[in-house]
Amino acid sequence: MTIEKIRGLVKADFEAVDRVVTERLHSPVALVDQVASYIVHSGGKRLRPLLVLLAARACGHDGGRRVEAAAIIEFIHTATLLHDDVVDDSSMRRGRETANEVFGNATSVLVGDFLYSRAFQMMVKLDRMPVMKILADATNAIAEGEVLQLMTARDPTTTEDRYFDVIHRKTARLFEAGAQIGAVLCDASPDVERALASYGRHIGTAFQLIDDALDYQADESRIGKHLGDDLAEGKPTLPLIHALQRGDAQQQSMIRDAIEHGGLERLEEITRAVASLGGLAYTARRAQGEADLALAALSPLPETVFKEGLSELARFAVARKN
Ligand code: IPE
Ligand code: IPE
Ligand code: MG
Ligand code: MG
Repeated sequence: MTIEKIRGLVKADFEAVDRVVTERLHSPVALVDQVASYIVHSGGKRLRPLLVLLAARACGHDGGRRVEAAAIIEFIHTATLLHDDVVDDSSMRRGRETANEVFGNATSVLVGDFLYSRAFQMMVKLDRMPVMKILADATNAIAEGEVLQLMTARDPTTTEDRYFDVIHRKTARLFEAGAQIGAVLCDASPDVERALASYGRHIGTAFQLIDDALDYQADESRIGKHLGDDLAEGKPTLPLIHALQRGDAQQQSMIRDAIEHGGLERLEEITRAVASLGGLAYTARRAQGEADLALAALSPLPETVFKEGLSELARFAVARKN
């Protein structure tokens, strides 16, 4: 199933999410409106809202709140992207210049704050305390993950465990939250809620693993981001950590130096080493392992087309090129 087909399973809801997002984006402050709309309408994949919608439908009846919840998750995700592109000094996202490139860092950070706080306003309106708790905790964990990552940057002694700690917090937690909220909105049993949370955590981990592999090998025009963004910032992601363990003395010294100093001077050489030392294959294998765990976690759910959609989403997280 393609991602379009998966979206097609919840087509009306999916379109409703976009309408809610557009409606709730507005601000009387013109620059807020301009920047928020620049990033929101630049064509993200809307995976996290899709996850909320599929999870809610896979559990039964949600009392009509899934669309609002899905829009809230997309607002939070978009806020993290505005902040992330500033801290990563990234200049391309979703196939166009990043907001920080066009409007500057200060504007991006502040509009990111606007989107976060708009998400809080929407949560209050939704008025479900368990949803608020899940999203408050996830948002807090993302901030911790991004700071933890800052602490590992330029550190070639970063371990795999530390790397996984970072990606669980900065990425997997929001996927986990999205899937869990679907269950909570339907008053699903604790078993089903746990199953969906676990599914979300594993699919989110797979998603970030693939993202880190794609940073070395994607087609830039498809992924809509510049390659080598991680290397430029000296980020010890899994492909690099694995290659560093496997390389000969000369390769180890080159990789260590690249992590310590960042920059893209030796991107080609390092990409070749990462590939030949199995760093990309290993990362893809770990992502497949996470996707398998995500699929296995779905077993308590009844067989529906929405469960099938969740399964397909796990496959997409690994096979994706964008
Ligand atoms: C980008 O997420 C940030 C990561 C967690 C890697 P997406 O790849 O889902 O971003 P959009 O929303 O589709 O642009
Ligand atoms: C993704 O961070 C996680 C968040 C945005 C919180 P990355 O820095 O790995 O993602 P990209 O590559 O910029 O999309
Ligand atoms: Mg980034
Ligand atoms: Mg980042």
